[in-house]
Parts: sequence; structure tokens; C-alpha cells
Amino acid sequence: MEVIKKLDEQQVKDFDTDYIEGKDWTDLKEYLSAFFPAGVFCFLDIGGGNGVFCDKVLASFPQASAVLLDNSEYLVALNEIRENKTIICDSVENVTTLFQDKKFDVIFLNLVLHHFVGNSYKSTYQNVVNTLNNLRPLLSENGVIYIMEDIYNGLIFDGLASFLIFTLTSSKRGAKIIKRFGANTAGTGVCFRSEKQWKRIIDKCGYEIIKEGDSHQFRFPLLKVLLLHLGKVGMKFLWLKKK
Ligand SMILES: C[S@@+](CC[C@H](N)C(=O)[O-])C[C@H]1O[C@@H](n2cnc3c(N)ncnc32)[C@H](O)[C@@H]1O
Repeated sequence: MEVIKKLDEQQVKDFDTDYIEGKDWTDLKEYLSAFFPAGVFCFLDIGGGNGVFCDKVLASFPQASAVLLDNSEYLVALNEIRENKTIICDSVENVTTLFQDKKFDVIFLNLVLHHFVGNSYKSTYQNVVNTLNNLRPLLSENGVIYIMEDIYNGLIFDGLASFLIFTLTSSKRGAKIIKRFGANTAGTGVCFRSEKQWKRIIDKCGYEIIKEGDSHQFRFPLLKVLLLHLGKVGMKFLWLKKK
């Protein structure tokens, strides 16, 4: 896998939060109860950061066990220690070696896939494909993946918003200006994708979508809509299983 650029400490400080709240959380709990009626399952939370989400799952499903993986020393250090929670500070690039003989019933990818940024748009795409391919053998027989993602559909050309945002945010030279426009990942980059783009990747990597739904929708000022070629933008969840 090409190297995934690491966010610096200042950038990850914004991620000391929990994004899966309200209806997203209630829905997620219902799906987990339906998939695992006895409440016994082992999950991997990739990009689990401060561990608030992980702890929330463990509080609702005390018989479950968790592995949290995040490459930010700062966020990992904020984690509460729990008996049924293993905390690993490492990058997703190393999942195959980290979990050689391990199987997970659920793998969470909550707002993290768009951070697997390489040195080009192409290598960033490859990082996501490699990640999803590497996760397939880690799923137990009836294992599922939950993805929560920011979806950026282009206004007319489907992939253009994704490409423009990637190009602008990954530029080192323009980082100061781009940051002022609200992109906390400026200088490193972020790669949001359209719904069609994500679904093509998911299919290519040998998964089928078993459930999906929309979460919050975002509105932007007209200037931003036109400059970034923004169509429908919002969060979406997807449940996957191996084909
Ligand atoms: C937007 S935050 C999402 C945090 C959490 N999953 C949530 O939904 O509240 C993205 C997280 O991904 C982590 N991350 C980014 N690149 C990573 C990588 N290569 N390997 C593991 N974690 C990574 C960041 O440190 C951060 O905690």
C-alpha cells in the first residue's frame, strides 16, 4: 500500500468528538441487536480516535469486545481503559500484520475512509481499495462492515467535487488559505467521494450493501457550491457483507 499521510496533532484535535449520535446511534444499535440478538460480538473500530463511540457500543452491549485502532497518539491517549477493550495506536495500513489470526464480527469505518490520503488522487483511491480488500479476510463468516461517510456528489459531473476538494486540500502551498475556508485537513488532504464512487469501490472490493440510509444533509453558501461543484452533500451509512 502507498503511504497514508498522517494528520498532525492540531488537525486531529478537531476529531475529539463522537460523530455517531441521535438517530444514527439509535439506528445503529437496532441493527446491532438484529444482527447479534445475544449481544455477543467482537468488533474493530478503525479510526476510533478518543474511544467515545467504542465505549458507547460496549456500554450498550456489555458482552461485546472491542479493538480500537487509530494512528493518532493524541486521540488514543484520551481513551478510557476497559477490560473488554484493546487499544492499538497504529495505522490501518498494518491491519494484516496486526490481526493475523483474528476475526471480527463487525468492523466500523466511521468517517475515516476519506482520510486515507496518499500523494495523488490515484494512490488515495488505491489506499481505500487496499484497505477494504485487507479487511475482507478479517471478517467472521457472518461478519459485517459499517461505514459512515461524508458523501459529496458533484453538481453536474459526479466525481468533480471530490477531485476539486482533494486537489485543494492536499496542496501544501495553498494550505493557509484553504484552512481559512474551513478545511482543517488543509496541507494533508481529504478525499470525500460521491455516492456512486463509494458504491463502485465497495462492489469492486467484493462486498454487497445489505442496508443503507441517509444521515445529516449539509447546505453550503452558493459561492462554495459553484466553486466546488457541489451537488447533494451529506452523511450516509452503509452496512456491507462479503459477496
Ligand atoms: C473524522 S475522525 C472520526 C473519529 C471517529 N471514528 C468518529 O466517528 O467519531 C477520523 C479518525 O481517523 C483516524 N485516522 C486517520 N488516518 C488513519 C489511519 N491511517 N489509520 C488509523 N486511523 C486513522 C484519525 O486519527 C481520527 O481519529
